[in-house]
Amino acid sequence: MTELAAAALVQRGITQLTGRSDSPRRDAEVLLQAACGIDRTALAKNPEQPVDAAGADTYFGFLDRRYDHEPVACILGRKEFWSLELELNASTLVPRAETELLVETALESIPRGTAVEIADLGTGSGAIALALAAERPLARITATDLNPDALLQARDNASRLGLAIHFEEGDWFTPLEGRRFDVIISNPPYVRDNDPLLQTGPALFEPPLALFGGQDGLACVRTLCTSVKDHLNPGGFVALEHGHDQQDAVKAMLSDVGLESIVGLKDLAGRPRVTTARMPR
Ligand SMILES: C[S@@+](CC[C@H](N)C(=O)[O-])C[C@H]1O[C@@H](n2cnc3c(N)ncnc32)[C@H](O)[C@@H]1O
Repeated sequence: MTELAAAALVQRGITQLTGRSDSPRRDAEVLLQAACGIDRTALAKNPEQPVDAAGADTYFGFLDRRYDHEPVACILGRKEFWSLELELNASTLVPRAETELLVETALESIPRGTAVEIADLGTGSGAIALALAAERPLARITATDLNPDALLQARDNASRLGLAIHFEEGDWFTPLEGRRFDVIISNPPYVRDNDPLLQTGPALFEPPLALFGGQDGLACVRTLCTSVKDHLNPGGFVALEHGHDQQDAVKAMLSDVGLESIVGLKDLAGRPRVTTARMPR
């Protein structure tokens, strides 16, 4: 194959992805950079620079996967979260921008310079735990997951980023038997098993264990709420992410187990996505 100009490759990508992606130009540019090492600055400076056949082939393969709705983060095996570059594997959820609300909310409850004990349950790539570790270096953070392959990736991210997290494998609070924390945070799976949105689109490329929360989507939240009081210190804080139509149910569960100061928060799009509560003192 003859060498093709970088700008022509981007244009071809935009044409292929239009109608399949909300951001065809950005996707094409990011995939070209991953395949051939030509970033946006280099592209703007020299749009006619040639791309060799091997690089172009890799790029075309990436475009086909994106055309089939695979998220860019899954194709690249990495995603930025809270300004941290996280590597992903087949067992980790792609961290979502919405989850940064959970991190922001937890940070408001953790004064700087204090050695608080934090637990992140269902850590996946380690996104939440690592963001908290970056912002609160004195905190002692334990992160858990049921999936050992997700934990492998989270450990790898922690060591690459030089952030100290203690990892435990197991079912929700089981590996934390007898331990109490000042802050418990979780983004559990909360999608309904039969959600039609999941039959197509990006969710097909993500691990089911990270997505599905039973018939009403609330099975994992329910398990977490049932035991959370056994693991919070007096005055301790819990923050849970949930579906936009689940906040009333999550508030009721937290209230039923005797937590107080229950607050529902909305994400930037105005959807109710996080609920917090405190352990009585
Ligand atoms: C929605 S993902 C969240 C991942 C990550 N915390 C984030 O926000 O990007 C839910 C995580 O919970 C984990 N998980 C599912 N069931 C679990 C269980 N019974 N016990 C512990 N973790 C579980 C999944 O493996 C997945 O990593």
